[in-house]
Amino acid sequence: MISFLPRASFEKPAALVLLTSGQAAAADFSSWPRDVAAVVSALLASKKFDGSKGEIFPLLAGKSLVVLLGLGKDEELTLPALRVLVRRALLSSFFKKMADIELIPHRDCGDVVNALIDAHVIGGYAWKKYITRKKDDTTVEHRHLHIVAQRQREYAQAVAVAQAVNFARDLVNENADVTTAEYLEKAVRALVRGKKLITLDVLGRKELVAGKFGLILAVNKGSSKEPRLVVARYNGGRKGEPYVALVGKGLTFDSGGLNLKPSGSMETMRSDMSGAAAVIGTLRAALELGIKKNIIFAFGAAENAIDADAYKPGDVIVGYSGKSVEVGNTDAEGRLVLADIMAYVIAKHKPARLVDIATLTGACVVGLGYDYAGLMSNNDVLAEALLASAAATDDRAWRLPLYPELKDMIKSKIADIKNISNQKGSAGSMTGAEFLHQFVGETPWAHLDIAGTAFVDGDNRMYFGHGATGYGVRLLTDFIGKN
Ligand code: BES
Ligand code: MN
Ligand code: ZN
Repeated sequence: MISFLPRASFEKPAALVLLTSGQAAAADFSSWPRDVAAVVSALLASKKFDGSKGEIFPLLAGKSLVVLLGLGKDEELTLPALRVLVRRALLSSFFKKMADIELIPHRDCGDVVNALIDAHVIGGYAWKKYITRKKDDTTVEHRHLHIVAQRQREYAQAVAVAQAVNFARDLVNENADVTTAEYLEKAVRALVRGKKLITLDVLGRKELVAGKFGLILAVNKGSSKEPRLVVARYNGGRKGEPYVALVGKGLTFDSGGLNLKPSGSMETMRSDMSGAAAVIGTLRAALELGIKKNIIFAFGAAENAIDADAYKPGDVIVGYSGKSVEVGNTDAEGRLVLADIMAYVIAKHKPARLVDIATLTGACVVGLGYDYAGLMSNNDVLAEALLASAAATDDRAWRLPLYPELKDMIKSKIADIKNISNQKGSAGSMTGAEFLHQFVGETPWAHLDIAGTAFVDGDNRMYFGHGATGYGVRLLTDFIGKN
């Protein structure tokens, strides 16, 4: 078997060459410059490099540094593994001072190129705004990666989506007192400025009071900042074509409220607006890709803080839908905010489908860990479409069930419904979802619980460093483009 390698120029000071073990055994270098081909084939003949998975081997060929990366057996190689391997090679010390790198893939096809861009743009991201020590001037952001690939259109689209992922990550990583509800509103205004495709509705405290949004107002009561409900209507599709609505949880900080979170559980809660950040990032990607669909991008932004005015455990509150809610726990605040917003978006815009995305429950982290989001839905077609986009983009998701008995678990003796389960410690993600379910009526709806996937606290995970992952931007962008 002879594998033909993509034609590469090796004109940059450095090159990263991806080779499967099959290619290492029988590759045709006829399209490569002779000096590079000679050095590489000599190495392969010596068997010092055989393309084993994760193997990295540097060579000097003429004036350029050529680093070979082994991918293992072609038939065992997956795209998620490719992202991890290529990220590790690009961050390795061999490329430390290299600002210009040519990347020669083992195959020139759309999904491989997409994975390579993720490895570079998403894998190279780090939040360094507050680090004052002198920055290395060859940090990954300043690097040029030239991927040898034919499909320039897919290439540009993948870059736009990956950059939208990093944009969402910046929103999450920034201090909670910077990314307030007002800040998120301004971020959206900046994105949509001059775009005739978009109609923006923003409700501040005054409008929320007038519209009887009692749930989001209750959550925000202990905060010194104003809440916001932001709805951007993106009219990229035909006139009259129904909307798909994306709704994000935007808790700019979640202290837990009077049911205060303990130390150890609060330190990363600036990430509790990751659902809203995913919606904003997807809006950015949709604008850049020019997606031809009608889409509603919405989020509710509030802060779950405490002062003498804070909403209280045991309170009964009434929101936009008119349903009364017993506050069993002030830390189950995300579902309150979402209930108000989803009820509003459904009443006002009657979307054909609604997907909410939220860092909703610690139980989701217990059940599914950090690499899979929980997906719950009242509609199998919608759930399957989201799972397909999750698999295509590597924003992974796993479906959990919703069933009638869950409703009994959130019964209240003093209100229509309660914001926590009467069976503490069981089915926490599903009872959270069932609460939301009670506010969507018959609308086909799906809920993504991203409490585990939105943020990396500590070591690298998959191809993400510490901090926000931008989970959901790739999944939702793929979903709205295809559905
Ligand atoms: N924002 C949290 C959920 C969360 C936990 C996100 C860990 C990311 C990491 C949410 O508002 C919350 O506090 N949920 C409670 C619900 C409980 C009181 C029913 C939880 O999971 O403990
Ligand atoms: Mn909470
Ligand atoms: Zn929360």
